[in-house]
Amino acid sequence: MLEVCEMEQYVIKGGAPLRGEVTIGGAKNAALAILAAAVMTDDTVVIDNLPDVRDVNVMIGAMEDIGASIERVDRHTVRINGSKIERLSVDYEYIKKIRASYYLLGALLGKYKSAEVALPGGCAIGSRPIDLHIKGFKALGADVDTGYGLISARADELIGNHIYLDKVSVGATINILMTATMAKGKTVIENAAKEPHVVDVANFLNSMGANIRGAGTDVIRVEGVERLHGTEYSVIPDQIEAGTFMCAAAVTHGDILVKNVVPKHLEATTAKLVEAGCKVVEYDDAVRVIAEDMQLHHTAVTTLPYPGFPTDMQPQMAVVLAVAEGTSTVTESIWDNRFKYVDELARMGAQVKIESNIAIITGVDHYTGARVSAPDLRAGAALVIAGLAAHDGITVVDDIYYIQRGYEDFEVKLRGLGGNIELVDNEHDLQKFILKVS
Ligand code: EPZ
Repeated sequence: MLEVCEMEQYVIKGGAPLRGEVTIGGAKNAALAILAAAVMTDDTVVIDNLPDVRDVNVMIGAMEDIGASIERVDRHTVRINGSKIERLSVDYEYIKKIRASYYLLGALLGKYKSAEVALPGGCAIGSRPIDLHIKGFKALGADVDTGYGLISARADELIGNHIYLDKVSVGATINILMTATMAKGKTVIENAAKEPHVVDVANFLNSMGANIRGAGTDVIRVEGVERLHGTEYSVIPDQIEAGTFMCAAAVTHGDILVKNVVPKHLEATTAKLVEAGCKVVEYDDAVRVIAEDMQLHHTAVTTLPYPGFPTDMQPQMAVVLAVAEGTSTVTESIWDNRFKYVDELARMGAQVKIESNIAIITGVDHYTGARVSAPDLRAGAALVIAGLAAHDGITVVDDIYYIQRGYEDFEVKLRGLGGNIELVDNEHDLQKFILKVS
């Protein structure tokens, strides 16, 4: 399941509006942290609504590697027992595949007062420092060493403290939160990240007996506990998967009911799609995006921490704006290298100029199919929806293992909406598809 097939490609014949209903799975970025936190108790934990995506499966592999027992109950449910963890060290093999395996550092440090993970490097979207994680662990009383490609943290005793995060960081907030849960006394995390997945991790820890208040606000307060107990927990819906389908409705001038979501988590994406000329209807646990026969308009988007516009939706939104009337701007304020897809999009006819961290997009009438490659997860998904909107030609997307890191059955869900897309792994099937559609 973890093997990467570099031959796999998506082949797409675009032009048809996407219509119908799609059901969103569990949030990848919540699931990764919740899985790690599950080893903090010796009791059994059941986690449900896990997305069956590569990153989640790598995380499960990393946990099994240190001795956690993990039983797959069904495709989206696992039963985890962390009572027999025998190694407090997470291999580079895992960290190089998913940075988020560093959540095991916060979890193991909290539970065993000692942990070590390979030091994560940069990645496709830019340099990715972990200084704030380290600052937090130190503030809780740990000695933290980095060297020899490792980050190790050790404490005789963890003691609650007041921690101010210089920059809003999802990862640092969650990592510190996990460790603080089992530190002595009170921890206050100021300038904490407010993302829905931060709240989900706090809710999960609370369901194991932690005492965390204020998650979802700037200030999180943790009263440390000595032990955590078992729980059954269901991961929140993935707001980025949902947003991606919302943008797919917009760019193909379709009409999609996106089900199993928390509309509140999607507000920034909804607001920008409305500004761009779409109609968005919110229900209790669904949103419908209608763009049929509607002219798309230019707008300005800036990525910011939640509740701002998510950086993980930046490429998908840019794909919508590149075929909207007028000149739009997309400002990326979180990552320093998240515009790599722009050159690929240009091959499909988009007109985009990058000036430092701003993409200046001059809307064109339509995309044309082209052979492109996915530079990273979200940009890859964005190129796929551009392909589905292309009026003529065939789009072939290479390097789709990036997309499979975070989207479950992406092509199956898109086909369910009328998208003409297939996953192929050899030249023969690629040619067969092209012959069939032309
Ligand atoms: C999480 O990454 C997500 N990943 C990312 O999603 C997402 O883009 C990002 O949050 C922002 O929303 C996971 O949840 C697994 P950060 P994370 O720490 O936690 C700086 C996807 O597509 N920073 O909130 O690593 C950092 O450089 C992925 O699913 C420090 O300076 O992001 C960045 O500018 C891609 N020092 C900003 O903070 C630190 O110690 C926000 O990063 C940590 C971060």
